[in-house]
Amino acid sequence: MSRILVTGGAGYIGSHMCWELVGRGHEVLVIDDLSTGHESSLPPGAILLRGQVGSAEIAAMLAREHARSPLAGAMHFAAKARVDESVRLPDLYFAHNTQQTLALAGTLRDLDVPWFILSSTAAVYGNTSGDLIGEDHAVAPASPYGESKLRAEQGLRELFAKRGGSLAILRYFNVAGADPEMRTGQSTPEASHLIKLAAQTVVKMERAQEREPKAGATASASQMIIHGTDYPTPDGTCLRDYVHVMDIAGAHLAVMETLAKPREPRVYNVGYGKPYSVREVLACMREVSGVNFPIVEGPRRAGDVVRVACDSRRLQAETAWTPRFANLEVICKTALAWERRLAASTP
Ligand SMILES: NC(=O)c1ccc[n+]([C@@H]2O[C@H](COP(=O)([O-])OP(=O)(O)OC[C@H]3O[C@@H](n4cnc5c(N)ncnc54)[C@H](O)[C@@H]3O)[C@@H](O)[C@H]2O)c1
Repeated sequence: MSRILVTGGAGYIGSHMCWELVGRGHEVLVIDDLSTGHESSLPPGAILLRGQVGSAEIAAMLAREHARSPLAGAMHFAAKARVDESVRLPDLYFAHNTQQTLALAGTLRDLDVPWFILSSTAAVYGNTSGDLIGEDHAVAPASPYGESKLRAEQGLRELFAKRGGSLAILRYFNVAGADPEMRTGQSTPEASHLIKLAAQTVVKMERAQEREPKAGATASASQMIIHGTDYPTPDGTCLRDYVHVMDIAGAHLAVMETLAKPREPRVYNVGYGKPYSVREVLACMREVSGVNFPIVEGPRRAGDVVRVACDSRRLQAETAWTPRFANLEVICKTALAWERRLAASTP
């Protein structure tokens, strides 16, 4: 069993990773500044170093921790991850996602921590063409968020080429759902993802119904807006490749196994290759919740890509990764179950 560094371990994806690692008997050291994460999302036994990944204080703490009990490797989830925010505050994104990532990786190379896995994103591809997007598809980020991640990827490649160590870059598609055991889920209140928003809408309507059970009382409580219904897709709405958060954690475990021996940097896309439209997702959430929330059709939103679907054949060929939750209904059900749980714990 190993000691593994998980940055951003108090956040959505990182907390699922921590629970999975601890469940397999690993020791987990977390760095998180709790800017969007929650300490309560961590599993028992995880050690939290609170601070920013690129800071001198964290570098000193890491050196002490590594001397006490060596780290086998690092999974780097900590980042700012909102496309809309990155358009307003690009410098914040380059500081957190690029500069701090490279500072952290430099510290870990100084300490000779053997491997590093970066959370990257399909946003590095920008406007994609073709049916399925493989790792060799051209990169052309359409947002400062995507650009900040691409620069981190490039900087890490240079660093590892010069200073040794194993590097893997995982580009996730649209991550959604929650741990089926409900140990953790997505708790970020201002999350902007479609499935999270739909689950929040259901829960708001259920709460309104509880407060005022008369017919019609829920109609105005909340609604979902479809941004654009005239895209060149079968139902006119955009298509996305939704991947269950537990399969993202599983991909890290599978990639980690390949990093035990030093190896060349590798990039892997993580998704299922079967995209769903906005209408299909909303219909599924209505179906699993039994709540017919109102759906309003609006104009297109700037920057939205028509179709995104992942080719994950490289990941499946080179690692033991097998998706276990590739089912939209399971994704919607677990996301909703977590949202209901969150609502039940908030007055
Ligand atoms: N959610 C998705 O659909 C998705 C898709 C592709 C890639 N990603 C990537 O996955 C990673 C995790 O995303 P998430 O959805 O769990 O986001 P999140 O906001 O829930 O988690 C990020 C965590 O990092 C912490 N953090 C942020 N900046 C930090 C810093 N400089 N130092 C220390 N801690 C810091 C936050 O407090 C939070 O706990 C990110 O790198 C993101 O870019 C997410």
